[in-house]
Amino acid sequence: MTLRLLILGTGGMAANHAAAFARIPGVELVAGVDTRAEPLAAFAARHGLGRTFSRLADALDWGRFDAVANVTPDAAHHATTLPLLAAGKHVLCEKPLATSAADAAEMAQAAARAGTVAMVNLTYRNVPALQQAAQLVAEGALGPIRHFEASYLQSWLTQPAWGDWRTEPQWLWRLSTAHGSKGVLGDVGIHILDFATFAAGEAPTEVSARLATFDKAPGGRIGDYPLDANDSATLQLRLEGGALGVVHASRFATGHLNDLRLRLYGTEGGLDIRFENAESALSACLGPARTGARWETIPCPPVPTVYDRFIAAIRGEGPTDPDFARGAQLQRWLDRAEDSAASGSRLLPA
Ligand SMILES: NC(=O)c1ccc[n+]([C@@H]2O[C@H](COP(=O)([O-])OP(=O)(O)OC[C@H]3O[C@@H](n4cnc5c(N)ncnc54)[C@H](O)[C@@H]3O)[C@@H](O)[C@H]2O)c1
Repeated sequence: MTLRLLILGTGGMAANHAAAFARIPGVELVAGVDTRAEPLAAFAARHGLGRTFSRLADALDWGRFDAVANVTPDAAHHATTLPLLAAGKHVLCEKPLATSAADAAEMAQAAARAGTVAMVNLTYRNVPALQQAAQLVAEGALGPIRHFEASYLQSWLTQPAWGDWRTEPQWLWRLSTAHGSKGVLGDVGIHILDFATFAAGEAPTEVSARLATFDKAPGGRIGDYPLDANDSATLQLRLEGGALGVVHASRFATGHLNDLRLRLYGTEGGLDIRFENAESALSACLGPARTGARWETIPCPPVPTVYDRFIAAIRGEGPTDPDFARGAQLQRWLDRAEDSAASGSRLLPA
């Protein structure tokens, strides 16, 4: 049976959703919703959407869709996802699920009540090296994990490869807490927190964090946007098994457009997972190779994307993973990191 998909929010990231879903057999992009008429019309023409709506409520009245890709800005996720779940729609929501742990928890509860498929778009689950690493860890290849280093590095505040943040609102909302941004911590810190804890197969038990916001414009604002959201985040974590690790994220990492790296060390081996320049690679130093500190490249088969898995879950052909409960768990850790930073980096239970 054809699965009818609606795209809610037709800005930058929506193009990735449209392209990914258009490639899946049996999925039809039927409609788009955006509060801005012009980008909506251009998006609908480009991706062949038959219907467009300026209000979600009108799309819900129309109702002829089964699933929704929620690609609105972070601050709109909570208010738009709840009525979709109440109407029995499947939802793939962008990250972070919400702007607070309380709102994310409410969304996870609503999803459980609705019984529909509700997933969060943790894009880097699509990285083959991450999935392969998680499998090796789960098989015990590293032994108990003792230490890790994780980073997510971007540089869009220092160069214009993706556009000019000084003039384009799709960048400005990300710099402003008044517009629902949790800064680099919420924007990409959530990805690297998921990356590290998913690979390790362990949740943090303690967190301590520092956040920094740098002067970027006269008076610290551009038009309606006070530029107060954090640009750089450093976290120290302890995992359930006792390992210590650091996670950092920045938009000022000149020389890196969009690079993730995780190094995991256990008593029996180490893993180095890279996603750099859109290429994924995994190397390992395992067992007897530890003595000579010899690292070898591990082949990583392709993996289904979160888009593929969302559709498979709706069809009953795969698990709902990563689900809203995972999104809410990550959101709690983000809030704890903010609490820690606000209290002078106090060590807090995660
Ligand atoms: N998973 C990833 O790797 C990844 C990458 C980029 C962005 N994102 C996430 O995707 C989301 C969108 O980011 P973006 O870069 O596309 O932003 P964007 O600003 O380019 O686009 C958002 C669109 O949503 C529209 N919109 C705002 N409120 C709305 C509402 N209530 N109803 C309907 N439309 C509404 C805006 O008019 C805009 O066209 C964010 O949550 C962001 O964090 C995720």
